[in-house]
Amino acid sequence: MAGFFILFWVFLLIIMENSEKFKRILVTSALTYANGETHLGHIAGSILPADMYVRYCRLSGYDVIYICGSDEYGTAIEMSAIKEGISPKEIIDKYHFLNKQSYEGLGMSFDIYSRTSTDIHKKNSQDFFKVLYDKGLLYQKSEKQLYSEKEKRFLADRFVIGTCPVCGYEEARGDECENCGSALSPLELKNPRSTITGDTPVVKESTHYYFPLSKYQDSLDKWIISKSDWKPNVVNYCKGWFKTGLQDRAITRDLNWGVPLPVNNSEGKVIYVWFEAPIGYISNTIELFQNSKNPDKWKEYWQSNDTKLVHFLGKDNIIFHAIFFPAMLMAHENYVLAENVPANEFMNLEGSKQSKSKGHAIYVKDVLEKFNPDTIRYTIATNMPENKDTDFYWSDLQAKNNNELGAILGNFVNRTFVFAQKYFEGTVPEANEYLEIDKNIINSIKSYSSSIASYYENYKFKDAVSETMNLVRDANKYFNDTEPWKAIKDDKARCAVIINTCLQLCRSFAVLFNPVLPFSSEKLLRMLNISEEAITWKSAAELKLKAGSKLNNPEILFRKIEDTEIDK
Ligand code: 2FM
Ligand code: ZN
Repeated sequence: MAGFFILFWVFLLIIMENSEKFKRILVTSALTYANGETHLGHIAGSILPADMYVRYCRLSGYDVIYICGSDEYGTAIEMSAIKEGISPKEIIDKYHFLNKQSYEGLGMSFDIYSRTSTDIHKKNSQDFFKVLYDKGLLYQKSEKQLYSEKEKRFLADRFVIGTCPVCGYEEARGDECENCGSALSPLELKNPRSTITGDTPVVKESTHYYFPLSKYQDSLDKWIISKSDWKPNVVNYCKGWFKTGLQDRAITRDLNWGVPLPVNNSEGKVIYVWFEAPIGYISNTIELFQNSKNPDKWKEYWQSNDTKLVHFLGKDNIIFHAIFFPAMLMAHENYVLAENVPANEFMNLEGSKQSKSKGHAIYVKDVLEKFNPDTIRYTIATNMPENKDTDFYWSDLQAKNNNELGAILGNFVNRTFVFAQKYFEGTVPEANEYLEIDKNIINSIKSYSSSIASYYENYKFKDAVSETMNLVRDANKYFNDTEPWKAIKDDKARCAVIINTCLQLCRSFAVLFNPVLPFSSEKLLRMLNISEEAITWKSAAELKLKAGSKLNNPEILFRKIEDTEIDK
């Protein structure tokens, strides 16, 4: 018992420290390329953990905003357009709205899901470039580039593939090796060839602007060392890159599709997508507030030191969010740096990496047509690739739905409501006198809600969810041990106490499960006849349901998933 109280106070102190140090929280999920449908790999890597974190923060009363959107420039988009035989604009219009809809279907609660093709972003990223340019930080260099005579174009980034000089992977792209995560430039590739035609390129000179990334290595190193709570995988990746030595990076490209350079004599050149895309987080925040009473409010989030900026992303994006973008922000000198970059590893599909370019993925749109969004969220959350790659299996989705969501949570809620409907006229019965067993379960809600909170505060989403389910396991044990089916015959007042307690627990579940199961949380609140606005994290441990208040008819939370559906 003493151990529990010490733990409880430690959790409370961590939470208090966080809320004192930071006045507001700014959360981003990696912008999704609008060149294909979003899949479960994106959800597991950068979207679901952020959404769960944000939902937890909102319930805890933090001032938090959640920014995401489509990444619409760069060779990824142009390549898909060429492959589909349509224009880049048609590609982004098709996938931006499709992906926005998929995310909504899965309950992602962005404050804004915008896109980088907006005028706001064009101006904002040009202004950012111009600030660095005017400070004299950028320099021009004429350098050798790969050029396809056949296609009459420079082969930037994804337009060229070849062998990775670091790990030997033969399909490495010109911008990055998907196998080892190294950031590359096309000329570093061995045996380069055009991704589109397979043509072997020639080398031609072109002039580009460079960002002096090497100059920021010491500052970045110091900054990352000061972060004692970053995930070891993120810190280790960064240390590896520091060891190799950061190289200055070209931040312009010879392409038509992109944000034009805001400086003279630069026709045919655009800003490198990895320079402007992260600025998209800022642009989208500007857009979020542009029609509000305080259009400058975005500055409070981006330009105050008491903002906690948290970037959620997959491991392939670590270099851009923990090194490149922070260096850009350091150079600009006007922005807050990330407090944390809790990158996830990959969630593979039954054994190999999900990839839309290879067509090996489960698309959100498809899976939503067949299954409850909360079942999908729960399956991913309980197997989140927080520290190592994990695998998504359809059989796991079925098992988690049937054996956990249905058999543990759904069953408890159902048993409770059946009793309330059958013996207490569909109202919350009176709780007159608590026994030790009732007090114990009521007290445990408090300890669970603080330990779950601490898991959320520390980006341990898998633990947060399994701890929440443990409370439901305890609740089922309480139901079994108190035997309301006997009490209703021998002592109705005793049965009333038990069912009152179980209904209070249902209310706690609606709060504590809200980050991972928002749709079921909403249903539960409807069944309990309380509005969503009335819930806060703190209130999860309070006995808020009033005796005599009317309940609504119960709804099925999780239907059973049959073997035949999974076989299909
Ligand atoms: O890797 C990707 O999918 C990129 N579209 C992520 C961009 S994150 C940000 F910087 F915009
Ligand atoms: Zn490699």
